[in-house]
Amino acid sequence: RVPDAVSIYEVSPRDGLQNESTLISVDGKRRLIDALVASGLRRIEITSFVSPKWVPQLADAEELARAIRPPEGVTYSALCPNARGLERALSAGLTEIAVFLSASEAHNRANINKTIADTLSVFSEIVPPAREAGLQVRAYVSTVWGCPYEGAVDPARVVQIAEKLLELGCYQISLGDTIGVGNPRQTREIVRRFLDAMPVERFALHMHDTRGTALANVLTALEMGVRDFDASVGGVGGCPYAPGAAGNLATEDLVYMLHGMGLETGIDLEKLLEAGNVAEQVIGRPLPGKVHKAGPFR
Ligand code: HMG
Ligand code: MG
Repeated sequence: RVPDAVSIYEVSPRDGLQNESTLISVDGKRRLIDALVASGLRRIEITSFVSPKWVPQLADAEELARAIRPPEGVTYSALCPNARGLERALSAGLTEIAVFLSASEAHNRANINKTIADTLSVFSEIVPPAREAGLQVRAYVSTVWGCPYEGAVDPARVVQIAEKLLELGCYQISLGDTIGVGNPRQTREIVRRFLDAMPVERFALHMHDTRGTALANVLTALEMGVRDFDASVGGVGGCPYAPGAAGNLATEDLVYMLHGMGLETGIDLEKLLEAGNVAEQVIGRPLPGKVHKAGPFR
């Protein structure tokens, strides 16, 4: 890893689109993904192999994954909740999947209809075979900064879940502020606990900007050495099973801040802004990202 370089994991085709009620064509999704690749993004979550009844927008996961092949150096990933999801991801030719669960029982139940313990046991049955089949496996822990149903979440519990996921063979744990309620003081506490438990490259932050605190939380983590962040072009997105979870951290806002601070991302901001415009056309409504609206500065 180059010092002063930040790795951005782009989630707009998945986290961004999953909440959109108007169905977007495979061609529209493909245009968005091509524009993201053209901006220099190298890690993109393109879809989910979840139940099409739960997330109708991503029911075309196989068709999309088969229609696009990542250029050299680019990885396409997809969410995968269970053995059926793994089978689908493998048959569609993906090389990376992301398993996901929540740090709070009520959100886990609402999102994937299981207890946390049962979810971990499903993952213990799919992550090792996925690794054997040559896939990289990432993992998400949601509701780390707060749960829409249970409120406060104990960070010690999150570390335990993350350690379990690493043991199973996941290469990185993305910590989600699913409903965008976090603040920098809380972020400092969560990151400190993770730094005590594992190397910094083993975890990433996945912030939603629902209440305007995403970049403040990123900056706090950045100052503590974290170099992996998830973002979504135009600030599109949210979790359909987390009431009020509108708006992922916008990739343009993150890149604008990082480049201004002299950190490298490998992304061309002008081209990223073009990708945001493609996202806006494809989705068919104005997107909330701030740099998306304001444009670059010199
Ligand atoms: P269930 O109903 O408990 O499961 O759903 P089931 O095993 O009884 O299956 C029900 C039906 O779904 C069956 O079909 C299965 O075959 C089918 P039926 O017999 O009724 O016709 N099914 C599947 N179909 C396709 N692919 C599959 C699959 N699995 C079962 N993989 C399940 C359990 C996990 C499937 C469901 O709850 C689900 O799909 N949930 C996904 C919810 C979701 O995608 N949420 C958003 C992503 S998470 C997020 O956004 C947070 C994140 O961004 C981080 C953050 O912000 O914190 C990652
Ligand atoms: Mg999310």
